[in-house]
Amino acid sequence: MNIAIYPGSFDPITNGHLNIIERAATIFDEVTVGVLVNPDKKGLFSIEERVKLIERAIKHIPNVKVKSFSGLLVDYMNENDIKVIIKGLRAISDFEYEFQMSLMNKKLSPDIETLFMMTCTQYSYLSSSSVKQVAAFGGCIKDLVPDEIIEDIMLKFRGK
Ligand code: PNS
Repeated sequence: MNIAIYPGSFDPITNGHLNIIERAATIFDEVTVGVLVNPDKKGLFSIEERVKLIERAIKHIPNVKVKSFSGLLVDYMNENDIKVIIKGLRAISDFEYEFQMSLMNKKLSPDIETLFMMTCTQYSYLSSSSVKQVAAFGGCIKDLVPDEIIEDIMLKFRGK
């Protein structure tokens, strides 16, 4: 079976992420969305909350599942016999960071490949951080994140 992993922080999942997941799911037999802690980023949602939000957003895609784990991505992949990492690329500004990560993963586990998918233009400006900023100031996040999770994000900020 041809399995790919789409790893990220997903704090929270955006429509840009969802678009990559939907497209990857048409190419691979199975796609695992891997929710990981990025030590360089301060989280808004707990890992468990992020997983639940993603699960609601991907209900319509049967060959996608969500897993969270800590440690190295390549270790999880090797333990689960996954050989391909999917990453989305928006602008040139993403490139350096993603290039470095893919080379590090290759160094750690040479038989693993990273495949990059270009964002659809309508999502090229979108990021979890910008969604959080808009929501924090009470702006409208419709069309930026899946409809099913809008209320959860707004509630998170109302509680703050
Ligand atoms: O959505 P993000 O924050 O850009 O995703 C980054 C992520 C979580 C994929 C990356 O930080 C990661 O792979 N973390 C797990 C630890 C690891 O394997 N690091 C080695 C690659 S530099």
